[in-house]
This record gives sequence, structure tokens and C-alpha cells, in this order.
Amino acid sequence: MSDPIAEILVAPERLTARVDELARQISADYAGEELLLVGVLKGAVFFMADLARRITVPCALDFMAVSSYGSSTDSSGVVRILKDLDTEIEGRHVLIVEDIIDSGLTLSYLLKNLRSRKPASLEICTLLTKPARRRTNITCRYVGFEIPDEYVVGYGLDFAERYRTLDFIGVLTAEAAAVAGEDEALL
Ligand code: IMP
Ligand code: MG
Repeated sequence: MSDPIAEILVAPERLTARVDELARQISADYAGEELLLVGVLKGAVFFMADLARRITVPCALDFMAVSSYGSSTDSSGVVRILKDLDTEIEGRHVLIVEDIIDSGLTLSYLLKNLRSRKPASLEICTLLTKPARRRTNITCRYVGFEIPDEYVVGYGLDFAERYRTLDFIGVLTAEAAAVAGEDEALL
């Protein structure tokens, strides 16, 4: 297959530099505290691994898996918890780590759900955000990059489970999206 990437949006060096900055900011903001990073599987895994290793305050990790999509590229607004946290979060400082905020529906559900467990604090750190697509109002304390309304892959983000392992954020060609979509239909 020809190169499936139409355009590189964020090169590896820019990713590394921005993750460093976010980690520095988070470490300063939570100085003297212990932090629980809650990663949203699977897209946030690469970002969270890099971020967590650069944060200098003591940091525990936990994960949630949710399904939010009716189709592969459009949020349905219906969110189901596929895997819940292993730990209690009452009284703890929780930072949700996300790969991308698109409509915001997934996170707004997660926020409501986690808030009801009474953490000491609850904030969001997302690598990417597409403000043009937002359908709900969400306050996100840490944002890596604002990107245009394009479907992106790499550094954890997939299309039909492909391209997560790319070390940059790229825009898929329409051709690659069609092929990945066909394969998914066969599953
Ligand atoms: P939301 O509920 O619409 O905000 O959807 C958020 C989730 O959809 C993200 O955590 C991603 O898993 C997925 N998603 C949204 N946009 C993209 C994209 O451009 N590439 C890959 N995954 C995306
Ligand atoms: Mg995600």
C-alpha cells in the first residue's frame, strides 16, 4: 500500500518537547501532592507512558476503557464503561489522561462518573483537542495541541486499530481510511 499518511501534523520532536512542558507544568501544579493518573484506553497509553515518566511528583497509574462510538469516526454520545478503575479515588488528586477530545461527550460522561466518587480534585490532560467539533462544554486544564477538524492517527491514536505505533501525529489519506474501514466491516 502507498504511504497512508497525507500529512504529518505533529512531528516526534514537537511531541517530545510538548510532553516535557506539560509534565513540568503538572509537576509544579501538584508539588507536595500525590497524583493518580487515569488513562483512557487505548489511545492515551503512549502519551501517558511518556508523560508519567517525566512527572516528578509521586504518581500512581490506573486505566479505564470506555466505548463511545456508534461508527468508527463519529461519537454517538452513548458511553459504556468496558473496564473500570482498579482503585478507589475518594480524597485523591485525579488527572484524567486522554489522547484527543473530539465532541467531548466521552469525557463529559467520565467527568460526571468520576466526580461522583468524590476525588480531592479532578482535572483533564489531553494531548490533542479539536475545538471545532465540540458538542459540550468541558474545561481542560492541560492541552498538548489544538488541531483542525481532521481524523488523525499515531502516537496511540488509531483508525480501526491501525497506526497506533507511529511516532508522530498524522492525517490519514482518504484511501487508507477507506481500506481500514473495509477491513473493519469484515470483522
Ligand atoms: P469524543 O467523545 O467525541 O470526544 O471522542 C473522543 C474519543 O474518540 C477519543 O478518545 C478517541 O479515542 C476518538 N477519536 C476522536 N477523534 C479521533 C481522531 O481524529 N483520531 C483517532 N481517534 C479519535
Ligand atoms: Mg480515547
